[in-house]
Amino acid sequence: MASINFQKIFEPIKKKFGDVKIKSSIILGSGLGDFADELNLVTSINTSEIEGYPISTIPGHSGKVFLCEYSNSYHLVFKGRIHLYEGYSIDQVVIPSVISKLFNSKYLIVTNAAGGISEHLKPADLMLIDDLFFIHYKSKFRSLAQYPKNKFAIKKELNDFIFELSIQNEIELKRGVYVYSSGPSYETPAEIRFLKKAGCDAVGMSTIPEVLYASNNDLPVIAISCITNYAAGITENKLSHDEVTDTANIVKDKFSKLLKTIIKELPRSWKI
Ligand code: HPA
Repeated sequence: MASINFQKIFEPIKKKFGDVKIKSSIILGSGLGDFADELNLVTSINTSEIEGYPISTIPGHSGKVFLCEYSNSYHLVFKGRIHLYEGYSIDQVVIPSVISKLFNSKYLIVTNAAGGISEHLKPADLMLIDDLFFIHYKSKFRSLAQYPKNKFAIKKELNDFIFELSIQNEIELKRGVYVYSSGPSYETPAEIRFLKKAGCDAVGMSTIPEVLYASNNDLPVIAISCITNYAAGITENKLSHDEVTDTANIVKDKFSKLLKTIIKELPRSWKI
C-alpha cells in the first residue's frame, strides 16, 4: 500500500486552526462524539473536506476535527473514529494521532466504547486502561516500519494521577485491561470466557493503533473505555450497536465531567 502523506492531511487543518499551542488531543469513541459541544468551540473542519482523510462508515461517527478552548488552553477533538475493521490500514487509523503529534499536542486521550467482561464492570462504567491485550494481532503491528520499538506508553504514574483526580472530583472510575477484538462482529460467549480467564476486563475494536503510535512517538497517552454493554454471554442479552450508543448517551455527563477534569488538571506537559 502506498504510504500516507501525513503532512498533506495536516496542512489544511493547520491552515484553518492557525499556530495554536495544543495541550491535549482527544479521540472520541462510539457514541461519545458530542463531547466537543462541552468545550468552547474556536473552529472546526469537516474531515470530508480534507483530501486523504478516511471517511467513517459507522453510524454516530460523522467526521470532524474541532479546535476548542477550555480552562485557558486549547484542545483538539476528533469526532468520527476510524477503525481497522472498516478496512482501513493502521496508518490511516493513526491519522488523528499523527495530526496531534504534528500540532505538538502534549497529551493524547483515546476513548472508546467497550463490552464489560469482568465482574467489577457494568454498563455505564468508565474504565481507565492500565494495560492492553492484543497478542493475537501483534505481528500485524510489528511489521510496520513506523513502530519498530513497540514500546508501551501507558504509564502507571500518569494513570495514578488520573485516578487520583477522579477520586478528588467524586467521579467513579474503574481500572483494567482492555483487549482488542478485530471485529466488526461481536465476540462469542466462548471467546469471552477465554478472555476472562486471560485476565481481560473489557473488550473493544479500537485504541491499540493509537496507543502504539503514541508509545513510539513520545506522546503521553491516556486511554478510557466507556462500558456500553456486558460482553457476549455475560448476560442473556443480545448485543447490538444500538445498545452501545444508548449506553454511551446515558454515560455522557459522567464522561464529560471526567474528561473536562482531566484536561483542566493535567500539568502543561508530562515527562515520559
Ligand atoms: N465487543 C467489542 N467491541 C465493543 C463491545 C463489545 O462487546 N461493546 C462496544 N464495543
